[in-house]
Amino acid sequence: MMDRGDWDERYDEEGLLWTARPNRFLVEQIGGLAPGRALDVACGEGRNAVWLATQGWEARGIDFSAVGLAKAQTLAAEAGVQVDWIEADVLDCELESEHYDLITILYLQLPGAERTAVHRKYVAGLAPDGLLLIIAHDLENLTHGYGGPKEASVLFTPADVVDDLSGLGLAIEVAERVARPVATDGGERTAIDLLVRARRPA
Ligand SMILES: C[S@@+](CC[C@H](N)C(=O)[O-])C[C@H]1O[C@@H](n2cnc3c(N)ncnc32)[C@H](O)[C@@H]1O
Repeated sequence: MMDRGDWDERYDEEGLLWTARPNRFLVEQIGGLAPGRALDVACGEGRNAVWLATQGWEARGIDFSAVGLAKAQTLAAEAGVQVDWIEADVLDCELESEHYDLITILYLQLPGAERTAVHRKYVAGLAPDGLLLIIAHDLENLTHGYGGPKEASVLFTPADVVDDLSGLGLAIEVAERVARPVATDGGERTAIDLLVRARRPA
């Protein structure tokens, strides 16, 4: 598993490691919703939190990589938006309870026990009627998809996420595998992601 130092090292290069564009499934799922308070967990270089802010969300991003967050700050400044960036470990940082209308967790690939703990922890941060959106590299991507981690231990499935969230009173609105086209030097390839959208009852 990659620790904080590994991520700082990975982000410590010219330009963005990922992209300035938001994740396509985030845009599909959230674009057009009335904005409120949003928390992006493991926000990295900030592309998704910045996009949320451009859509009128009061956005906050948490990540433990100071190097990633420095890039996120630049991205927000370039987009002319305000985002509250917090440098912290998502496993043990403070969380305001029943506060957020939207909590997003994108491509946070943790092994089983940590993954379950994070998914369950952030449910407590959802305001009534709040949405939790989890998008990640699916286990199937290892054998049939493009890119993503190469260790099965940090890959999971929509059913794993539904299990993680069980007994917490959320309504699971979407739990599926989704195909994400990726442009590469060798032509278009397909990454296999998972997407779970769950809502806290009003
Ligand atoms: C693959 S990147 C995804 C970044 C972003 N969500 C996106 O979609 O562009 C995973 C991120 O998780 C962060 N991360 C991993 N474990 C973490 C932890 N325990 N606490 C805080 N951030 C963590 C890393 O620093 C990295 O920025």
